[in-house]
Amino acid sequence: METEAAADRLGRSLRAGDLLLLVGPLGAGKTTFARGLARGTGSEAHVSSPTFQLVRLYPGRVQLAHVDLYRLERSAEIEGLGLDELLDQGAVAVEWGDRLGLVSARTGRCGSVLIDVLGPAKRRLRLEGEPAWSL
Ligand SMILES: Nc1ncnc2c1ncn2[C@@H]1O[C@H](COP(=O)(O)OP(=O)(O)OP(=O)(O)O)[C@@H](O)[C@H]1O
Ligand SMILES: [Mg+2]
Repeated sequence: METEAAADRLGRSLRAGDLLLLVGPLGAGKTTFARGLARGTGSEAHVSSPTFQLVRLYPGRVQLAHVDLYRLERSAEIEGLGLDELLDQGAVAVEWGDRLGLVSARTGRCGSVLIDVLGPAKRRLRLEGEPAWSL
């Protein structure tokens, strides 16, 4: 699937401190994109929706932290994520990343992947915010 292939290419360029916000409606392909990112970082981890876990870690050439804010109930939980520590350790991809708000005063690379659903198997992917990255 092209979504996963595009994410894989981007994943190869990820490094510690990189933050990617994955934004799109239910079933858009955010987890699919995170799976491609993990492949691109060299991880062989099984990537699925972290339903009951806010964060999953995939070791690879660079660690990828996979965060899903779908079930986030209080903004205090975002602070409890330890986002700065995760960014020190590796790259971070956040499903429902638009719920993150202002994260911190960090200065690493940060971009948003916007996924539009155009049809049952058709998606439009756009990348905003980080000029060094493309899809
Ligand atoms: N081009 C495509 N890109 C991504 N997903 C696609 C595409 N075409 C079809 N799909 C299907 O759409 C679904 C996307 O599911 P996925 O779990 O990745 O979405 P999600 O945005 O993470 O959903 P959720 O909002 O529940 O977290 C999968 O069943 C996938 O097979
Ligand atoms: Mg998902």
